[in-house]
Order: sequence, then C-alpha cells, then structure tokens
Amino acid sequence: MKLLEALAEMAGATLHRLRLYEDMKRSLANLQALQAIDRAITSSLDIRLTLDVLLEQAISRLSADAARVMLLNPYTYRLEFAAGQGFRSQSHQHSRFLLGEGLAGRAALEHKILDSNEALLEGEDVLRTSQFAEEGFVCYRVAPLAAKGQVLGVLELFFRAHHEPDQEWVNFFATLAGQAAIAIDNARLFEHLQNSNFELSMAYDSTIEGWSRALDLRDSETEGHTQRVTELTVKLAQAMGISDQDIVHIRRGALLHDIGKMGVPDSILLKPGKLTDEEWAIMRQHPTFAYELLRPIKFLNHALEIPYCHHEKWDGTGYPRGLEGEQIPLSARIFAVADVWDALTSDRPYRKAWSDKEALEYIRQQTGHHFDPQVVALFLRTFVNNAGDQSTTHHQR
Ligand code: C2E
Ligand code: SIN
Ligand code: SIN
Ligand code: FE
Ligand code: FE
Repeated sequence: MKLLEALAEMAGATLHRLRLYEDMKRSLANLQALQAIDRAITSSLDIRLTLDVLLEQAISRLSADAARVMLLNPYTYRLEFAAGQGFRSQSHQHSRFLLGEGLAGRAALEHKILDSNEALLEGEDVLRTSQFAEEGFVCYRVAPLAAKGQVLGVLELFFRAHHEPDQEWVNFFATLAGQAAIAIDNARLFEHLQNSNFELSMAYDSTIEGWSRALDLRDSETEGHTQRVTELTVKLAQAMGISDQDIVHIRRGALLHDIGKMGVPDSILLKPGKLTDEEWAIMRQHPTFAYELLRPIKFLNHALEIPYCHHEKWDGTGYPRGLEGEQIPLSARIFAVADVWDALTSDRPYRKAWSDKEALEYIRQQTGHHFDPQVVALFLRTFVNNAGDQSTTHHQR
C-alpha cells in the first residue's frame, strides 16, 4: 500500500511537473510572440508591417486559420479593413461595420471580447455572410483594440474547425490585442508628428521666400537678386561637398541675407549716389540688424551665418566684426563671392551694371583680399569657364 502510494505520489508529481513544463513552454512561446510584435513596433513605425507581424503571431499562437484587423475611422465611426491573413478570397476586405453594429462593432463599442456562439444565441450568424461564403469558417472571436481608453479597432480571428478556448488562450488573445493597440497608437502618433513637422517646415520656408521677395521688391532695382544669389550659393556649396542637411540652412540664410536692410531707411537704401559717412554707418549695420532680428527665431539659428557674416572679408577688413580667414563661417565666404558677382553684374540705384568681364576681373583681383581663394578658384572653375551658363548671364533690365 505504502509503496503504491509513494509511486502514485511520484507519478502525480511528475504529471504535475509535466503539465507545468508544458504550461511554461506555452507561456514562453507566447512571450516570444509578444516580443516579436514588440520588435516590429519599435523597428518599424510603418503600421502595415507591424500589423502583418501581429497577424502572423495571432494565427500561429492562437491557432486561428485567418485573422483580420479592422480600424476605426474616427470621422465616420466605421470599422474599416486594415490588414488580413489566411483568407481564401479577397472579399473579406470589403467588410465595414458601424461602431456597435455586428459582433465586431459591438466588441469595439463595449470594449470586450465576443465570439460567434454568443451571437448565434441572439440569432446573428456572422460567418454566413456573403463575404465569407467561400471561407468555411465555423468559429469566430473578436477583441477590441484599445489604447489609452480609446478604441482604435478590432482584431478578429476565424477558425475552420471548432475551437474551444481555455483561460490562458483568452488571456493571451487580450494581451495580443493590447499590444496591437499600442503599436497602432504609436504609429499614428509618429505619422501625425511627421506630418505636422513637415507642414511646419513648409510653412516656414514659404514664409522665408515671401519675406525675401518683399525685400527685393523694396530694393526695386535688385529684383531677382536674392533668388539668383541663393541658387548660385547653393550650387557652390554643393560643389564644395557641403551636406544636403547643411545646405538647407545655407539656402535659408542666403534668401534672408539682406533682411537687415529692413532697418535701413529708403532715403539711404534707394539713394542714387554715393553714401555720406553717416548714411554708410547705418548701412553697415544691416548684418547686425539681421542678427538681432533672426536670433530669437530658433528655427533660423543655423541660418544666421550668412545674414550676419556676409560682409566680412578674408583679410579682416570687412564688417560688422572684422572676422578674418576661417573665422568667417564657410557659408558666408561662399555667399560673399556669389553676392558680389550678382551685385556687380546688376544695375544698382547708385551705378549701372558692370560687364561679366569687368566683374570677373574684380573678383579675381579681390582673391585673398575680400574673398577666400579656395572659393574663388571653385567659382571660376565651376561657373565661369562654362560660357553660357545660366548663372553668368546678365541681369540688367
Ligand atoms: P549691394 O548693392 O547688394 O552690394 C553687395 C556688395 O557687392 C557690396 O557690399 C560690395 O561688396 C559689392 N558691390 C556692389 N556694388 C559695388 C561696386 O560698385 N563696386 C564695388 N567695388 N563693389 C560693389 P558693401 O559695399 O558692403 O555694400 C553693402 C550694401 O550697401 C550694398 O548692397 C548697397 O545696398 C549699399 N551701398 C553700398 N555702396 C552704396 C552707394 O554708393 N550708394 C548707395 N545708395 N548704396 C550703397
Ligand atoms: C552665428 O552662427 O551665430 C552667426 C555667425 C557667426 O557667429 O559668425
Ligand atoms: C562662427 O562662429 O561660425 C565663426 C567664428 C566667429 O564667429 O568668431
Ligand atoms: Fe548685404
Ligand atoms: Fe546681396
């Protein structure tokens, strides 16, 4: 008797341990499934890819034959198809439910897991609709996808054989749905952020273009100057190997280079002749005005170099700070050549345009005095040897 009891106990313990082991194996696999989804969430903010991983895991870990995610359209209150796997035909993609309509609509509205048996009791047969005619489903379960108390959609599972879930299955279904909701929420947040950043940056850039056109209009004789100088500066910067990321700022800086002239009265700016010493003192402040004007705009901090430093000279005789050589930001050294080239070959209130030949001669002669020799060399190589190049044509009107 005692021996048998002992054996039975041992067998029971073994059985018990075996079941524990099986349970553990199952939870481990479930955990791995969650991790796979987690990875998909963090490595891809593309909602489609994440949903595909989710559906794959749902089908394999929850022994379903097909799975589908329907997302709530917040404007129409409809659940609309987002992703599906395991279906024989495409017609499942055309389902739409109003919130509260059908099992899926009710799961979403009431925030609870529902199944087809429950619906059958109420005389509703989800699986006999035309959409599923060819599918052979006999069993269906749907979980709401909710994050931060908000319903985002539903995760639906379809079975072609009868399926009786245990508690662990139900728990895991709920966990998976929770995970999916987080993924969707993240992806949407990110998309929204990206879109609003993009829109913001577009809005800024069109504001800048607007300002720069207004500035050219005021300085009526220099119309088109800013656009041409900006194009030439960007070309030179590209030829210098400056990164696209930095060129964005250089472009904005070039468009705004003379924004400080807003602080210079018309009587000086539009004066037909030479400036007096007092007038010149005011005119020479325009880079400082630009600095003060743009400094508080965080978005333009990296674009300040050109407006602030475009009248510095390589030999240290420029203004406003008398910077010398490489103390002058490279962007401003590049810009200076483009600016003077375009200014000289255009009519000004205070003189007629110079010919290309005269302007070129001047730029060559100012190498190492006004201009960085490397920039001049590049300017000559890239743009001037190239007769007929757009950037070297006359601009007088
Ligand atoms: P801006 O007309 O856009 O000229 C930009 C820069 O191109 C000038 O900076 C200068 O480096 C060069 N530049 C333009 N025209 C000439 C020129 O006839 N000869 C030479 N050697 N270089 C020229 P700068 O000199 O610092 O002048 C800054 C701004 O001051 C000019 O911008 C213009 O708005 C104004 N300005 C300069 N001189 C006069 C002037 O004699 N009369 C008037 N009304 N404005 C002037
Ligand atoms: C700036 O980047 O703050 C303006 C350029 C300069 O400091 O020289
Ligand atoms: C710069 O800060 O970009 C140039 C150096 C200086 O401003 O002194
Ligand atoms: Fe200027
Ligand atoms: Fe200019």
